[in-house]
Amino acid sequence: MLPSVEIVPIAQEHIESFHRSLDFVARERRYLAFLEAPPFESTQAFVLDNIKHGYPQLVAVSSGEVIGWCDVLPNPRPIYAHVGVLGIALLPEFRRHGIGGRLIRQALDAARDFGLRRVELTVRENNTVAIELYKKYGFIIEGLQRNRILVDDGYENLILMGLLFE
Ligand SMILES: CC(C)(COP(=O)(O)OP(=O)(O)OC[C@H]1O[C@@H](n2cnc3c(N)ncnc32)[C@H](O)[C@@H]1OP(=O)(O)O)[C@@H](O)C(=O)NCCC(=O)NCCS
Repeated sequence: MLPSVEIVPIAQEHIESFHRSLDFVARERRYLAFLEAPPFESTQAFVLDNIKHGYPQLVAVSSGEVIGWCDVLPNPRPIYAHVGVLGIALLPEFRRHGIGGRLIRQALDAARDFGLRRVELTVRENNTVAIELYKKYGFIIEGLQRNRILVDDGYENLILMGLLFE
């Protein structure tokens, strides 16, 4: 039986366990652009800056620990300021229980409320689970970058997906 999971905006008390979860998923080497988490200090600065600006960043919390997140971070350049970049992940034991769907739905609502008009992301071509999730929430494939990723001597294509808020 999965322990209860609540989804809340990230706060200072979440930073340590967020960093641990980010590091765990990064070290799976299959999903994220990171192969390990950035140093704690830069992750702390990153989260505190998101909180200060009110950027959409939700965390899934179980027994007080962050076990997943979904953020939609606005692009700093004025001509792209209406665009947010989405990132999402859960620890393995919490996957396939509908939590990813709850996270992305709440993050997209927060992005819309923040005033973003477009959300985009990149996903590895082999990550069919994530691609299915994104399609389910209205993202469409907008492009492909061939051999964009090289991990462990293996090349992978990167897919670009986007969603427009009507
Ligand atoms: C991608 C991820 C966040 C999905 O979260 P999740 O909680 O497992 O997904 P859910 O259980 O909410 O399922 C939502 C939808 O995702 C898709 N999906 C999830 N697991 C799937 C699976 N094993 N096979 C196929 N589709 C799947 C389906 O479309 C599903 O909709 P459905 O339940 O109506 O079939 C999660 O698998 C994960 O953390 N993966 C590793 C990190 C990652 O890939 N991040 C994205 C990098 S771009």
